Amino acid sequence: MTEAPDWKSQFPVRQSAEHDVSRRQFAKVACCSALAVSAAWALRDKILPLPTATAPKLVARVTDVPVGGSRLFRYPTEDHPAILVRLGESEFAAYSQACTHLMCPVHYQHEKQQFFCPCHEGFFSAQDGRVLAGPPPRALPRYPVEIRNGEIWITPATA
Ligand code: FES
Repeated sequence: MTEAPDWKSQFPVRQSAEHDVSRRQFAKVACCSALAVSAAWALRDKILPLPTATAPKLVARVTDVPVGGSRLFRYPTEDHPAILVRLGESEFAAYSQACTHLMCPVHYQHEKQQFFCPCHEGFFSAQDGRVLAGPPPRALPRYPVEIRNGEIWITPATA
């Protein structure tokens, strides 16, 4: 009777099961990587706060945006979508257009004076950007608006 070689007791994996082990390990690594990337994506706004703009930006002329209307623009950089809304005859507000939950773009609903995020039904006030309902953890970042000679300017926030 032949005795099993010593290495078999130290590495008890059959040759036919080698691929199962590596598949399992691959699945673990893939799942952990996907979780890490998802967590980083969800937290990127917390980890990397919005950059600070240093110069005012002309967004539109007052006559270009009717009451109840909106205008999309990019602020504080070309990578950051933002939205200007005209709440009343002389009332404008501008916010980041990226939902604070998972960054989906929000849409303005003038009849309710609110922003709606269709991804997970988040709602924000158009008056001040605060969360009204849904999963968003914090208010939409708001940008100061100035009217200068019939033009709508977004100005860098003063600390
Ligand atoms: S991304 Fe807006 S509610 Fe989830």
